[in-house]
Amino acid sequence: MTNEEILQMKKSADAVILAHYYVPEEVQAVADYVGDSFYLAKIAAQTRESTIVFCGVRFMGESAKILNPSRRVLLPEETADCPMAHMASAEQIARLRAEVPDLAVVCYINSSAYLKSLVDVCVTSSNAVKIVKSLPNKNILFIPDENLGRWIQKQVPEKNFYFSGGHCPVHSVLTAGAVQAQRAAHPDAVVAAHPECRAEVLALADFIGSTAEIIAYARQTQAREIVLVTEPGVLYELKKQCPGKVFYPATGVCEDMKSVTLQKTLACLTGGGYEVQVETLLAEAARRPLERMLELAK
Ligand code: 13P
Ligand code: SF4
Repeated sequence: MTNEEILQMKKSADAVILAHYYVPEEVQAVADYVGDSFYLAKIAAQTRESTIVFCGVRFMGESAKILNPSRRVLLPEETADCPMAHMASAEQIARLRAEVPDLAVVCYINSSAYLKSLVDVCVTSSNAVKIVKSLPNKNILFIPDENLGRWIQKQVPEKNFYFSGGHCPVHSVLTAGAVQAQRAAHPDAVVAAHPECRAEVLALADFIGSTAEIIAYARQTQAREIVLVTEPGVLYELKKQCPGKVFYPATGVCEDMKSVTLQKTLACLTGGGYEVQVETLLAEAARRPLERMLELAK
């Protein structure tokens, strides 16, 4: 199918395609917007087209629907879900709220709509430090990603942190030993890591940031070689933005993101796909922390 034909299909369907950097290259190639979680949430909140095809995992489609409820949001693959999005419970939150005074529950956007409905504010890896610093509360329960939470904690030492113990199965399996081996094999390379990695891995990184921030760092660093400690889907954008630089991917792939194929994406433009529905009361409760994030990140 030619680009012209795909463009025509998008027009006929009054659809816009949003894609995360981790979906397959050929899906990123047909998207109108490609970015990190924060950028995509902002775009989804503003989009004018009646249909948003969200090439990513379920929490991304849910956030788009919650922020822009009059739009139809389609996921190319119904089962594409982020396992970490469920790694906290209502009981954990309720218990800590009862035990700890002056507590803010801060929730990574990689979370189900249900978890979002129980919290005070959402964050992504690109705005978390700024938002947590700006909260009036002394105590923070950070859910669900403990690695990201501990990375924020290091930068906001004036607050007390509690965690729910969740983790990303793609980033958190990587060990310091694996990164040291990459460093030994590529002595001239710098290391860029996503904050979903373990603290022992982040301690070895020259740069830590969201997917979009890693891409920006790779573009501006003097280094010609970069050990990439995040899902290798970002290589598509990195190769476009940093011709001549060499990347050494260190993590495995996110199978959920990779299940979003080009065929399933194009099917969304002709009546296919899975329509995201978020029940009205749940959406209202989950919208507050998402909108607070958009406000505090300004
Ligand atoms: P970013 O917000 O950095 O794109 O991260 C999303 C994600 O799922 C990382 O695993
Ligand atoms: Fe979730 Fe990890 Fe996949 Fe990101 S890479 S969507 S955090 S499982």
